[in-house]
Amino acid sequence: MCHCRAVSDRSIRASIREGASTLEAVSDRTGAAQCCGGCEPMVAEILEDELEARTEPSSPKLTTLRPLRLLKDPRAA
Ligand code: FES
Repeated sequence: MCHCRAVSDRSIRASIREGASTLEAVSDRTGAAQCCGGCEPMVAEILEDELEARTEPSSPKLTTLRPLRLLKDPRAA
């Protein structure tokens, strides 16, 4: 990904998953985009992808709760 600093896309994704949420934060954590800047558009693209993935629900939501029907105790009648 970043040839100048030998930073892989995997490292960039990991930094985002660990809390980096801006290009500057990713750059500070990984060293990417701190030399020629040629990788910056790709780093920004990965950042956008990861942040979008973070906001998508990972599992279906429980939208409806149904009341429980309690069985009558035959001895109560
Ligand atoms: S390729 Fe990343 S700073 Fe040059």
